[in-house]
Amino acid sequence: MLVLGLESSCDETAAALYEDGVVLADVVRGQLDLHRLYGGVVPEIASRAHLEAVDQVAAQALAEAGRGLADISGLAVTQGPGLVGALLVALSFAKGLGFAAGRPVTGVNHVKAHALSPFMARPGAPPPVPDFPLVALVVSGGHSHLYLLADHLTFSLLGRTRDDAAGEAFDKTAKLLGLGYPGGRAIEELAARGDPSVYRLPRPLWREGLDFSFSGLKTQVLTIYRRDNLADRPADDPALADLAAGFQAAVVEVLVDKLRAALKTTRAEGAVLAGGVAANGALRAAALEMTQALGRPLFVPPLAWCADNAAMIAHLGARQLAAGRNILDLAAEARPRWPVD
Ligand code: KG4
Ligand code: ZN
Repeated sequence: MLVLGLESSCDETAAALYEDGVVLADVVRGQLDLHRLYGGVVPEIASRAHLEAVDQVAAQALAEAGRGLADISGLAVTQGPGLVGALLVALSFAKGLGFAAGRPVTGVNHVKAHALSPFMARPGAPPPVPDFPLVALVVSGGHSHLYLLADHLTFSLLGRTRDDAAGEAFDKTAKLLGLGYPGGRAIEELAARGDPSVYRLPRPLWREGLDFSFSGLKTQVLTIYRRDNLADRPADDPALADLAAGFQAAVVEVLVDKLRAALKTTRAEGAVLAGGVAANGALRAAALEMTQALGRPLFVPPLAWCADNAAMIAHLGARQLAAGRNILDLAAEARPRWPVD
């Protein structure tokens, strides 16, 4: 089943073609340069840029795979969660294209698509096949969710952030340290030169259930930053690297400890780590060490599929189309706050 996937929930306009476990084309057009000036995603600017790009990325994906609209069995589009004006662009486009081509359109949950992103492959490589149940930790700029997956389509929520998402905490802390936007990668690079034991930050909600809380951490970073007059130090001062390392260590330790607790309490067969923050090398290494100690496999997508993409939308969408799930009619609406369960 050949599926065209479309994504426009935040600041990437993306289209992909997917067939039987394999991603045949994967086009992502980012908008970072438009938003960087404002230190975050500006919804109006995002919608406008999606509108200019959506038909182009779709045409490019079809061309790269050497396929036409008549070849596809259906379409998959991110229906939520995300920015409503941004979501509407790919959703309206997909509905129009599906109607014109006489093909079904399925609405995909972006966070769930992240959770399944390790289970697709490039041509020539077989996709990993997991045993279920699985626990999945999805950490990105907008979400920090822990799921239990009974199968590819059956999710239940185990825990979530009570305030900031993990990626949001990285971004806000980076801003504070003058590292620009988005900040996850910059914090990781700075932290690599620092000593995480110099500034011992709290581990929020430590061993208290499976929810997360990250908003207090940036406040702690700010307190230390002011107390030690770090604003006056040169950019290469070791104290800044130590603070970044202390912050990253706190986030990684909490995330991995919750994932461990979820694995143990559910007796799941394996674990997934996905979403933009899963690109973090320290987090990947710590999660791998933890799962190896428990004798369970860890499934992590390649770096390109940690960030937002349409391949993961087409992948989950193909499974939904095969099961006849969430087939959209022309009146279907975007779901900016799609409940996670
Ligand atoms: O999944 P994603 O591309 O977009 C959302 O759906 O939110 O995730 C983007 C988030 C940003 O907050 C970014 O700072 C974070 O992922 N991120 C990282 C790293 N690379 C990206 N966080 C920590 N370490 C990284 N290497
Ligand atoms: Zn995402």
